[in-house]
Amino acid sequence: MSLGLPPGPPGRLLVGNLFDLPHDQQHLKFHEWSKEYGHVIHISILGQHIVVLNSLQAISDIFETRSAIYSSRSRQPMIIELVGWGWFFAMLPYGEEWRKGRRAFHQYFNPGAVEEYQPQLIQAARKSLGRFLADPDEFFAHVRHMVTALIMDVAYGIEISHKDDPYIQVAEVAMASISESGMPGAFLVNHIPILKYVPVWFPGAGFQKKAKYWRKVVEDMINKPFQNVADAVRQGTATPSITSAALQGLPEEMEDTAHERDTIKYLGGIAYTVSTAHNWFLAMAMYPDVQKRAQAVLDEVVGTSRLPDFSDRDRLPYIEAMIMETMRWQVITPLGECVLYGLSFAFPHCSTEDDEYQGYFIPKGSLVFGNAWSILHDPKEYPDPERFNPERFLEDGRINPNVRDPRVAAFGFGRRICPGRFLSDRMMFSLVTSVLSVFDIAPPLDQEDNPVSLKPALSPGIIGMSAPFKCAIKPRSPAAEDLIRIHSEKP
Ligand code: HEM
Repeated sequence: MSLGLPPGPPGRLLVGNLFDLPHDQQHLKFHEWSKEYGHVIHISILGQHIVVLNSLQAISDIFETRSAIYSSRSRQPMIIELVGWGWFFAMLPYGEEWRKGRRAFHQYFNPGAVEEYQPQLIQAARKSLGRFLADPDEFFAHVRHMVTALIMDVAYGIEISHKDDPYIQVAEVAMASISESGMPGAFLVNHIPILKYVPVWFPGAGFQKKAKYWRKVVEDMINKPFQNVADAVRQGTATPSITSAALQGLPEEMEDTAHERDTIKYLGGIAYTVSTAHNWFLAMAMYPDVQKRAQAVLDEVVGTSRLPDFSDRDRLPYIEAMIMETMRWQVITPLGECVLYGLSFAFPHCSTEDDEYQGYFIPKGSLVFGNAWSILHDPKEYPDPERFNPERFLEDGRINPNVRDPRVAAFGFGRRICPGRFLSDRMMFSLVTSVLSVFDIAPPLDQEDNPVSLKPALSPGIIGMSAPFKCAIKPRSPAAEDLIRIHSEKP
């Protein structure tokens, strides 16, 4: 007897469940369906099988135990073949090329390696304090500036001095090219790959013009900073960075090898870390008691005459719990980094063999999502899950190992789990501790001087990205203001 597909809402002829899904917050719909159909559900969209896993057990069985056949990505001719993102391993199917890219990345971003960057992380966070002081209303841009500056510093030793720096702008257009090219239905070539041979001049080949423009932007993004570092290394003026280290002592004709190995696989993480930091600002403005508690802890452990650094981290379990709660509360990759409509930055896992799970058939080529939101908002694990409450992770003033660490779901799963998670964790620590030591964050006031009530909201279409909101950021005291000035002016 042949096995049936996992249960799920009935679809329509040809289009399947295309019209059953909302355009955003799809994780909520999947969560609702899971109550009716169980933890493993199946839908189809235009003939594409999609399986959604809504429990940690199913996620672990599929993405961990059977990782050999659930770790690929689907074919994306527009992004990979036309726009030219093939060098970025996050997009590659499971196999030797992906493995090589991931190994090289891990070499620079494993927990031991990121420890080396801690002084740069602290420096970048401290420099950003001056920008928060000078122009607090622009805090969204300052967060983005800080995270981008950090990654460019670590990768290239390049200083990003202004929030409108061309490097930031080029990287943003390049990132948008991934999101837009990957949108199902947006480009026919994704469904009929042979169309990639249609020449640019052919009527209706608008996608080729778009691909050509994006290809140039992506090439600029990866070539310009690399060339700058290569020139500086030759002239002996390079500052320490991953790329300069890879180039040191390499003859000019070998530079391409270093370029292949070291191209900026790092920028992808910017959007996620920025969004996580924005959510943290929102939590601070919405939950003043949590903020006060965190500041009291910082004052007690660090004092008020200096700024915190990584040597303080072991003595700050409350801050640790606050970072964990930020990852859980408004999980920014609720479906483990994918979305069916709207913008997405990378792709779901794709299965490479026919499989059977719990008596159901999962066809080869299925897109498989883990619903991280369901896991991180499970009221049995996290009572009152909508509330931002770092205390849930603490027992007797220490991290309670019996409460599920949100990082089991917030960074994706199995062999594709986010390899930038150690860096983003350190970025969050340096940002939240530096900011809270010297600033108070509050909701903005309305025309009658009453605090505006804030609530989490997502930017329409952009998965996990918080919608812009305002908050009032003020120095905690004149002494705190002095501390900000001293540190943000240091070279
Ligand atoms: C809070 C910040 C971040 C979050 C929530 C996050 C989340 C994720 C998620 C959910 C995935 C997909 C995993 C999967 O397919 O199962 C992923 C993949 C990835 N992330 Fe992150 N990420 C963050 C920061 C970063 C940073 C800072 C970097 C780079 C320095 C980075 C680099 C990558 C790469 C290269 C992949 C692709 C891995 C692969 O396909 O093998 N991420 N991330």
